[in-house]
Amino acid sequence: MTRATYQRIVLAARPRGQVKEENFRLESVSVPVPGAGQVLVRNQFLSLDPYMRGRMSDAKSYAPPQALDETMLGATAGEVVESNHPGFAAGDKVVGMLGWAEMGVADGATLRKVDTRKIALSAYLGVVGMPGMTAWYGLNHIMLPKAGETILVSAASGAVGSVVGQLAKLKGCRAVGIAGGPDKCAYVVDELGFDACVDYKAGKLDADLAVAAPAGIDALFENVGGACFDAALPLLNPFSRIALCGLIAGYSGGDVAIRNIRYLLTSRVSLRGFIVTEHPDLWPQGLGELGALVAEGKIKYRESVAPNLAAAPTAFIGLLSGKNFGKQLVSLAA
Ligand SMILES: NC(=O)c1ccc[n+]([C@@H]2O[C@H](COP(=O)([O-])OP(=O)(O)OC[C@H]3O[C@@H](n4cnc5c(N)ncnc54)[C@H](OP(=O)(O)O)[C@@H]3O)[C@@H](O)[C@H]2O)c1
Repeated sequence: MTRATYQRIVLAARPRGQVKEENFRLESVSVPVPGAGQVLVRNQFLSLDPYMRGRMSDAKSYAPPQALDETMLGATAGEVVESNHPGFAAGDKVVGMLGWAEMGVADGATLRKVDTRKIALSAYLGVVGMPGMTAWYGLNHIMLPKAGETILVSAASGAVGSVVGQLAKLKGCRAVGIAGGPDKCAYVVDELGFDACVDYKAGKLDADLAVAAPAGIDALFENVGGACFDAALPLLNPFSRIALCGLIAGYSGGDVAIRNIRYLLTSRVSLRGFIVTEHPDLWPQGLGELGALVAEGKIKYRESVAPNLAAAPTAFIGLLSGKNFGKQLVSLAA
């Protein structure tokens, strides 16, 4: 008897520079049988995140590289099909790390049951998931903003940046964003409620940023590096704080050299890099607060959803060049 199959995407080859479609391979594999303590899940959404570019490389980093010919790693949200774990039953909605795959088996201990009555399942991969938690941690534990201060965040329309600015507004700050293109900037101001957003593609980033932050910048959430980061440094106020979250401008080999480094000294800036997964103790508090704000409509979010697993590589390549508008997901619902 032939067992049912599902599709997955594996890492076929490590990219050099820009990621290409041929770095991935779509495969059909047999649906696994869950063992003791395990749960079989049908995934409904896959999260695509910039960190995956780092894992595709075998360069030294904070996490080991993704193995070749194995399912691409990634966060998923889906529904339990069969459970051998007392904490889960068929039909439960769960979030886990089942990777770029339509189905998968996981130890129950690695899954989180989620409540979709007031929060959509997909949001647990974005604003009420790792990206939201990243924003919450960087803002509350590194940027330490006070009411009346100005905060700046790059990649402001994205999964992390959009939450940083909205949380800062709730604290009474002036929130300024940097994003690519007039549509993203309009969304950041008109929909998300930032005070200003500068289009770094418009060609006069330094001048536009100075206008958007007339009292300087007290805390910076850096997602991009390169020209965006450099433009912010001269505007930093004395004793300002930088949460260094990402350097996406350099993930495919671009230039993230810091030319204005002297302002870190002259403005006596505190800069801290961080990896959100290193703070698991804070996740229940952070996700709890974010969930409540989303359920009350106080934090908004936007999603770009690729239609199926086969479309994931194109969507991921697009994410690395700004083609996404909001949290990039892949729909795996049949
Ligand atoms: N440290 C951590 O624990 C942690 C956790 C999660 C995410 N991150 C980092 O946070 C950043 C944002 O992640 P996200 O998930 O929220 O992604 P995202 O902002 O939803 O999507 C990525 C965005 O980056 C921007 N971008 C890409 N290439 C760029 C370039 N060369 N110059 C300027 N902007 C560029 C694009 O926006 P535009 O169209 O506006 O350019 C793109 O839409 C990434 O750097 C990521 O690695 C870090």
